[in-house]
Amino acid sequence: MRKGILTIAAVGLLTTGGLTACGDDSGDKAASAKTPKIGVILPDSKSSARWETADRRFLEEAFKAAGVKYDIQNAQNDKTAFQTIADQMITGGVTALMIVNLDSGTGKAVLDKAKSQGVATIDYDRLTLGGSAQYYVSFDNETVGKLQGEGLSKCLTEKGAKNPVVAYLNGSPTDNNATLFKAGYDSVLKPKFDAKEYVKGPEDAVPAWDNAQAATIFEQQLTKANGKIDGVLAANDGLGNAAISILKKNKLNGKVPVTGQDASTEGLQNILAGDQCMTVYKAVREEAKAASDLAIALAKGEKKDTGQTVKDGDRDVPSVLLTPKAITKESVKDVIADGYVTKEEVCTAAYTKFCAEAGIS
Ligand code: BGC
Repeated sequence: MRKGILTIAAVGLLTTGGLTACGDDSGDKAASAKTPKIGVILPDSKSSARWETADRRFLEEAFKAAGVKYDIQNAQNDKTAFQTIADQMITGGVTALMIVNLDSGTGKAVLDKAKSQGVATIDYDRLTLGGSAQYYVSFDNETVGKLQGEGLSKCLTEKGAKNPVVAYLNGSPTDNNATLFKAGYDSVLKPKFDAKEYVKGPEDAVPAWDNAQAATIFEQQLTKANGKIDGVLAANDGLGNAAISILKKNKLNGKVPVTGQDASTEGLQNILAGDQCMTVYKAVREEAKAASDLAIALAKGEKKDTGQTVKDGDRDVPSVLLTPKAITKESVKDVIADGYVTKEEVCTAAYTKFCAEAGIS
């Protein structure tokens, strides 16, 4: 009886998230319905704080609210561990597996294996190219990049930069999102390079989004450019902070705008201090909720129409793509108001003054 009520509640919630039920593809719901148990594999805890501080928290929140069993683990950037965790989850009886792949090759192996064992699959945040996930839940990642390009351009104008040299710190070459972010910021910046309004400076991809390596890479970029870098398109807050640390060493912080993504505590603090131009806020609570709703539906043998697909080769992957938002000094308070980070986390001793200036009370 209780179970029945939960089923209706979960489906009801799905419709509020912009998803509509389109029935059961198994033909026999009773026979295919399983008690949901959801396995989630997060990629690491260093490329971005989000995975442990936001995704884990909001996924737990969604699973608990729906009353489903779950197992969330972190592969700590180890591809072998990633596969071992997946095997253990499949043996442990998960009905759905959600992965944030470390690269498409190992991601595909995990998805294919899960599928062969009758486990439902979801690509969470990162699309596995050539993969077999039944759904893809993420943000509009090209728009993320577009917001970064536009944000940097606005900051360069505010600084009155003439023919600024712009360096790129791209994300991991094995992350499809990094490709989409770059497509987004290139769409804004390339026309400016072509028009000789901006000068294209050094560009590097940062393997596995490694923040420490990003600092070394940026230091080399700055040397290569003879210290003349006027703006940095950094693909996330961790890479942005790496660039800022080197700019600080050279007393250039605050003079050279740097972008970011993820609205991390550190990124928001860098923005308040004037060292970072902007970040991109992605409401992970919504992402986690959408993925959780789909995983629960799949466990019940239901198929949801997300109303949208993404192309992966010849395959149309049913997708939920949420809307990202650009954040500058003035809007840091919105991220706090949304419950993504707390005022206490952001406004620590060194930042109280900046928080007051930005109207965070
Ligand atoms: C995510 C970003 C994150 C990056 C590094 C990307 O796939 O979309 O939010 O900063 O990975 O973990």
